[in-house]
Amino acid sequence: MTNPEGASRNLPRWAARERLREKGQFWTPEWVAKAMAAYVMTQPTDVLFDPAVGAGAFFRAAKSLARERGTPICCRGMEIDPEILKQALEDGNLQAEDTAGIAIGDFTLQPPQEKLSAIVANPPYIRHHRLSAEKKEALRHMCAQIIGSAIDGRAGLHVYFLLRALTLLKAGGRLAIILPADVCEGKYARDIWGWITTHFAVDAVITFAPAASPFPAVDTNPIVFFIRKAPPEEQFWWAKCHRTQTNALQEWVLRGLEAKEYDDLKMMRRSIKEGLATGFSREPCERQEEGYVLGDFAKVIRGIATGANDFFFLNSRQIEALGLPESYFVRAIGRTRDVSGDAVTATTLNALDLAGRPTFLLSLNGQDKTTFPDALQRYLALGEEKGLPTRPLLAQRKPWYKMEVRTPPPLLFAYLGRRNSRFIRNYAQVVPLTGFLCLYPHWSNAEYIERLALVLNHPDMLTNLSKIGKSYGAGAIKVEPRWLEQLPIPDRVVQTYKLPTQMRLWA
Ligand SMILES: C[S@@+](CC[C@H](N)C(=O)[O-])C[C@H]1O[C@@H](n2cnc3c(N)ncnc32)[C@H](O)[C@@H]1O
Repeated sequence: MTNPEGASRNLPRWAARERLREKGQFWTPEWVAKAMAAYVMTQPTDVLFDPAVGAGAFFRAAKSLARERGTPICCRGMEIDPEILKQALEDGNLQAEDTAGIAIGDFTLQPPQEKLSAIVANPPYIRHHRLSAEKKEALRHMCAQIIGSAIDGRAGLHVYFLLRALTLLKAGGRLAIILPADVCEGKYARDIWGWITTHFAVDAVITFAPAASPFPAVDTNPIVFFIRKAPPEEQFWWAKCHRTQTNALQEWVLRGLEAKEYDDLKMMRRSIKEGLATGFSREPCERQEEGYVLGDFAKVIRGIATGANDFFFLNSRQIEALGLPESYFVRAIGRTRDVSGDAVTATTLNALDLAGRPTFLLSLNGQDKTTFPDALQRYLALGEEKGLPTRPLLAQRKPWYKMEVRTPPPLLFAYLGRRNSRFIRNYAQVVPLTGFLCLYPHWSNAEYIERLALVLNHPDMLTNLSKIGKSYGAGAIKVEPRWLEQLPIPDRVVQTYKLPTQMRLWA
């Protein structure tokens, strides 16, 4: 998943990036590749299989381990892109004898016919919207055959790699696979992990602190899984790596995953049942303290999806230049970084507008456009010339310029920011775009809302977010509205700020 150097050389930056996204060409660094190869080579094996060879990181790791042990290993694999293999040969990352064992093809849909005892994989991280409808259908069908039901359509290609690889394991065979955390946190997570933990032994789950990410340049939270085709066990190792390039990871694996104190690697035994309930990517969730969830105090809805920010979301200079009447706009906030503190005020909006940032959202209802003032009609005609009515989101709206509506929420939640996620007081009565979630407290009493804001910004709350969010690289978290309503709020925090739990007390 990382370090695209080999793949992107000689290509303009955008083309290299596009190629990475299409093919998921990111290479596993040696310190992780060696630990993964060591796990599958724990039992004597003469063949190691990599379903997505790329520049051959696992081949090199396996051969280096085999040399150290003085036992030969035969590396075989698959790769969809022959160009990448050619390049790896030219760069000396693969040898001519390696390529003989690599079949060109799609591992998920044209898998090898024989069963395997050692599979090590860093599957392409290709999100579902980059898969053709035909391929998605074939993958969903494959999944239904394997686990007995189709999974949520948002699963990316890497999820199907995992399932396919598991079906190819011989009895006692081992899989080491590195995957983005969404595999444990996405909608489909329960279905696939339910199946895995009833059919396989999960030996270990290795996570990485943001500073130790194997793929520092990529916005994902990678996790390594060690899984064996053996009767399920009740416990598994959960480890966290705190320093990049550490030898501790490989040493731990080579010592057979025994408990040991390392400075850079911490490990613990966890029950599969608890891991499943919490999500394998997350820290263990101690028994919940007596308490509440956010949904007990507020309802959560996502911010407005405009479908074309550059057209609908403007600053005052643009509005003036276009001669558009301000009465057709509502004040709005677009990017999480546009709000630096924990409140958005009139001053925030003025400063943004002065800096040229958009804060005016064209909020038209479904009224016939001929009833609008001339300047507005001309602006909509311009949008039509630009093809806006056929854009994915706008094509579903009738008419295309009809904007989603939100009552300004008293509280906003900023997520997926580079800085910490946080709850923001909305003193400026703005509506937010999709960078935020809207929180509508169950009671509109001003003091109640202030207390709720204090509760939500308590440090424990921000820690609790990791229990319900999807984690990305560098500690960023994305939270879906329904999950935010499940954010645990301990009773002691509610007590600290005397937040009423039964509104009738305040009536
Ligand atoms: C994330 S890279 C990993 C490469 C290498 N194993 C490593 O760990 O560094 C994934 C590789 O899978 C290849 N790939 C993409 N789709 C594939 C598919 N359906 N079947 C086999 N390989 C595929 C990509 O071209 C890319 O080289």
